[in-house]
Amino acid sequence: MPAHRPKVVVTRRLPEPVETRMRELFEVELNETDRRMTREELAAALGRAEVLVPTLTDRIDAALLGQAGPQLRLIAIYGAGFDHIDVQTALRRNIIVTNTPGVLAEDTADMAMAMILAVPRRLREGANLMQSGEWEGWSPCGLTGSRIGGKRLGILGMGRIGQAVARRARGFGLQIHYHNRRQLRPEIEAELEATYWESLDQMLARIDILSINCPHTPATFHLLNARRLKLMKPTAYVINTSRGEVIDENALTRMLRAGELAGAGLDVFEKEPAVNPRLLGLPNVMLLPHMSSATVEGRIEMGEKVIINIKTFADGHRPPDQVLPSML
Ligand code: DGY
Repeated sequence: MPAHRPKVVVTRRLPEPVETRMRELFEVELNETDRRMTREELAAALGRAEVLVPTLTDRIDAALLGQAGPQLRLIAIYGAGFDHIDVQTALRRNIIVTNTPGVLAEDTADMAMAMILAVPRRLREGANLMQSGEWEGWSPCGLTGSRIGGKRLGILGMGRIGQAVARRARGFGLQIHYHNRRQLRPEIEAELEATYWESLDQMLARIDILSINCPHTPATFHLLNARRLKLMKPTAYVINTSRGEVIDENALTRMLRAGELAGAGLDVFEKEPAVNPRLLGLPNVMLLPHMSSATVEGRIEMGEKVIINIKTFADGHRPPDQVLPSML
């Protein structure tokens, strides 16, 4: 008997090799326009798919899940984050949710490191000056930034990405400090020469650069609120490649404008794709369009993970990257 080819609906355009493989394996409906689905279109997709493949631009809440048909069994997210899906409600409705962890870690850490270097060293301002054609030549005090080597880097969230940032940062002479739900095993701490801070507040007061690498969960929403941001030195920098919701973006913006923080590198925003307009044009801020994991290789590997999750599930086994209640 031929194997069951599940009806898979993909909400956005995926890399060509991924779409080709999906066509071979599944009865797949692709979104060739790459236009974001409206809420109504998402509801209709949930009504006909056995497997939905959403991305982080699709918000699937309890009300939308209420419109899912009984045939919907799996939501195979193309992405590592799952904060855009009401996983609790999905699980209650016996819908399994999977994601694509691991394959984004190194690429994301590269971009966090790039901003850890770029913001204190004023790379954006230097590049803009050259592009403007107004550079008048070298001068002793021109575009002086803050030295990287010897500074204290605080990493908030020491999972795969946080550890990958730490490995890179050590190569640049940064001292590694971290706050995490759990302390790392002693051998990993020793390898990274990392100092654990049980108290986030205490760590924030002592570091020079903060790299945010924790997921957005109810517990981390606005973890960096105005009170905590005020604990940081006015010479400190904030780098966020995780989720905008972890920082109170308005409070951060106010402090950057008031000179109460030295600068920020932000790849993610609270209300993407909207960005607080008062962040635009600030010289000490580098804004990127949520592109930390955007490599061709990474995007293909994400697709391969989605395919393995669907295939394993369709073959009657537990998909490898299932989002479990303990992760919420
Ligand atoms: C994810 O997969 O959650 C990332 O944020 C994409 O860059």
